[in-house]
Amino acid sequence: MRGKFITLEGIDGAGKSTHQSWLIDHLRARGRTVVATREPGGTPLGEKLRELLLHEPMHLETEALLMFAARREHLERLIRPTLERGDWVVSDRFTDATYAYQGGGRKLDMDKIALLERWVHPDLQPDLTLLFDVPPEVACRRLAGTGNAPDRFERETEDFFCRVRAVYLERAAGSGGRIRVIDARKSIAEIHKELEEIIASISK
Ligand code: ADP
Ligand code: TYD
Repeated sequence: MRGKFITLEGIDGAGKSTHQSWLIDHLRARGRTVVATREPGGTPLGEKLRELLLHEPMHLETEALLMFAARREHLERLIRPTLERGDWVVSDRFTDATYAYQGGGRKLDMDKIALLERWVHPDLQPDLTLLFDVPPEVACRRLAGTGNAPDRFERETEDFFCRVRAVYLERAAGSGGRIRVIDARKSIAEIHKELEEIIASISK
């Protein structure tokens, strides 16, 4: 049986990395073999593209094309083979992030993103997407608390993140249940309880 493909989304600072490691431990404790990965990245070439994407100024269409180039590699080398052998994939971001960041944040024509999506993965969508939703000011405070140097995206304005968040929420509303919105202002313990219930419901 094919494994499940779970993706984590949300604006920077929403808590994806925190919940990804908990989720992986939780799934492994339930006997699943899980591969944890991320976008952009997840393969040796993808990680090189990630470096460029996070730090090198570029045209917004170059940015979208490189996101999908890294994704093409990720699908071929890691996502599809893992799912085909029956293991699960948990990825920190996937194509919803391109709609939200390049489409919403950078205002790239959504039709161009849809075209790339049909080219790169016409027949594959995540089985479940966990959208960690927080107001940008909360995320910004959390990121400031980590003390890490911000990358090209994390330096964007509050307005940019409001647009990113709005596209994520719109996509969730139109996703037919694939995208589950989680109020990420809640405590980490409350969120984990909610994740436990969601995972139990898809594991049946
Ligand atoms: P992301 O991967 O979405 O950018 P992180 O998981 O790195 O976000 O979280 C950013 C910071 O916020 C970390 O210091 C983390 O401990 C903290 N954090 C995450 N979730 C919560 C939460 N629900 N409540 C309070 N702090 C949180
Ligand atoms: P992320 O892994 O969330 O960063 P961090 O390791 O700092 O938590 O994601 C890297 C950045 O890439 C993030 O700001 C969002 C951006 N991104 C896009 O703009 N489009 C995309 O398609 C993807 C996958 C990521």
